[in-house]
Amino acid sequence: MNVSIKTLMFASLTAASAVHADTTQTQPLVRATVSTDSAMVAAANPLAVKAGVDVLAKGGTAADAAVAVQMMLNLVEPQSSGIGGGAFMLYWDAQAKKLLTFDGREKAPASATPEYFYGDDGKPMKWWDGVVGGRSVGVPGTLKLVEHVHAKYGNQKWMSLLIPAIVKAQIGFEVSPRLHKSIAAAQERKLDLFESTRNYFFNEDGSPVAQGSYLKNPEFAQALREIGINGSAPFYTGRIAEDIVAAVATETNPGEMTLEDLANYSVIERAPVCVPYRAHEVCGMGPPTSGGLTMAQILTMLNNHDLPSMGPTAEAWHLYIEAAKLAYADRGLYMADADFVDMPEGLLDKTYLAQRAALIDLEQAMEKAEAGVPPKEDADRFSPDTQPERAGTSHFSIVDQFGNIVSMTTTIETGFGSRVMTNGFLLNNELTDFSFAAEREGLPVANRVEGGKRPRSSMSPTMVFKDGAPVLAIGSPGGSRIINYVTQKVIAILDWEMDLQAALDLPHVVNRNGATDLEENTAATDYQGALEALGHKVKTRGLNSGLHAIAIEDGKLFGAADSRREGIAAGF
Ligand code: GLY
Repeated sequence: MNVSIKTLMFASLTAASAVHADTTQTQPLVRATVSTDSAMVAAANPLAVKAGVDVLAKGGTAADAAVAVQMMLNLVEPQSSGIGGGAFMLYWDAQAKKLLTFDGREKAPASATPEYFYGDDGKPMKWWDGVVGGRSVGVPGTLKLVEHVHAKYGNQKWMSLLIPAIVKAQIGFEVSPRLHKSIAAAQERKLDLFESTRNYFFNEDGSPVAQGSYLKNPEFAQALREIGINGSAPFYTGRIAEDIVAAVATETNPGEMTLEDLANYSVIERAPVCVPYRAHEVCGMGPPTSGGLTMAQILTMLNNHDLPSMGPTAEAWHLYIEAAKLAYADRGLYMADADFVDMPEGLLDKTYLAQRAALIDLEQAMEKAEAGVPPKEDADRFSPDTQPERAGTSHFSIVDQFGNIVSMTTTIETGFGSRVMTNGFLLNNELTDFSFAAEREGLPVANRVEGGKRPRSSMSPTMVFKDGAPVLAIGSPGGSRIINYVTQKVIAILDWEMDLQAALDLPHVVNRNGATDLEENTAATDYQGALEALGHKVKTRGLNSGLHAIAIEDGKLFGAADSRREGIAAGF
C-alpha cells in the first residue's frame, strides 16, 4: 500500500479563537477524533506522523514506525526530543499478548558525585545555572532504545526508517509556528550562547529563523547516514561519540562524560507497573520514572470513589487533587532510580493506599501532604526532593496492522536541552532532573546524583487494558505535570466516557502537592470558587500539555492530538 500525505485521514484542523495561552503555544485548533480500521500514529508533528504512517503502510510494525517517527521529530521538533536525549517505551507485543517496557533514560557519567551540581560556594546551584552547558548532559539513550526495539520487533530495514528524516534534513523542512516561537522564547535563555546552536537556529543578524522558512540540517543528515549504515555504533563508540564528548566539554559548566560512559550505555527492559482501575487495568513505566507509580497511586486511591457518576465537577476535582497531593508527597520522598536506591516495596500496597485515601476529607482540602510510611519501610530514611522539571518533551502513540502498540515519551528535558549541539542534534539537560541538593538535615535525597544513575523522571507513557486486551495508548510532555495530565485524561476517558479528542482537550486541573493550577482561559477556571470554598489554594496559568492518544474499540482505532500543540493523528 502506498499512502501519500494527501490520502491520510488527518484530524480536521480549523483555526479557532485563542483558547490556550502559553509562551510556546502557537496554534489553537479545533479538532475531531480520527477513526481508522487498521493502523495509526498520533504524534506532535504532521511530518513525523506521515513518516510513521508510511512505514506502517509498507507492512512495518509499530517498532519500525517508532524509529521513523523519532528521527523525524528530532529534525522538525528538535527542542523536545531526539537522539541526544532519553526515552521510555511501552510495547504491546500482540502475538505474545505481552506488555514490555523499555528504559532508554539518560545516565549520569560514572564520575558524577552527589555534589555534581554544587557551586564554588559549596551549595547547590540555582536550577537554570545548571542547565546551560555540558554539565547537565546525561549519556543519551534514545537511539539505543529504538535500535533495541527495532532489532526485537522490527521487520523493515533499519536504514529505510531513517531515510525520511535524512531526506528532509537534506532538502529542508518548513519551520513550524511552534518551533519559531520556541526559538524566540529560548533566546532569552541562552539558546544563542554556543556557536553551533546559534548558527542553526538563528539568522546572521541574530534573529530566530522565521516561521515558514526552510531549515536544512546537513550535519544531522550525515549523522543519520552513518547510523543508518552502522547502527548506533558511531554514536556510542565512534566518530559521533568523540564529537559528543568534545561538545560537552564546554567552557562554562563543562560536563564529565567520557567515551567509556557512552560505550557502557545500555537499554534496560523493566517490569511494567500495572494497577486495576474499576473494570480496566492501567499500566505504565516503573522507575527511574515516577510516572507509572504516581499515576497508579492516584488511581488506586480514587478507585473507591464514584467518579463516574460525579463527572468533571468540583466534587470530583477535589477528590482528584487530594489524591494527587498524597501521591506526589510519596513521589518526592521515595521515588528515584531503583537500581541505586532501595525504594519501598509497598508503594502500591492496597491496605497502605486505603489508609492514604482515608486521609482525604470530602469537605476540606488538606495543606501540603506528608509522605506516608509504606509497609516494611523505615520512616526517616530520606529527605524530599523538590527539584523542578521543565516541559521539553514529546509523546507519540502507534498501533500497527498486526495489533502491536507503542506508547513512547521522549525528551531532551527542557526546551532545547543543554543548548549544546553536535552533528545537528541537541544534547539533553536531563541531569538537572536529579536533586541538586544531595541531602537535607542529614538525610540523603533519594534522587541525588550518583555515577551511572538515571535521574528521576515524570514521563508517563501509558497503556490501558480491558479483559487483557489493549484499549488505549496515551502520554504527554509537561515536566512533573505530566503525571496529572495523563492521569486525568485516563479518568476522563474511562470514567466519564468522553470522546477521545474532547478528553485530551478537557481543561487541566493540576496539583503537585502545592497550589492547584487551573488552565487559564478555559472552563477549568469555573471551578475556582467551589475549590476555594473547600480550602484549596488556586492559581490560573497556561498549562501546555501535548497528549497524543490512540483508543481501540470494536476493532476500530480512534486517534487524537492535543489541540494545545501542532500534532495530528492519522492512519489507514
Ligand atoms: N525531563 C522530563 C521528565 O523526564 O519527566
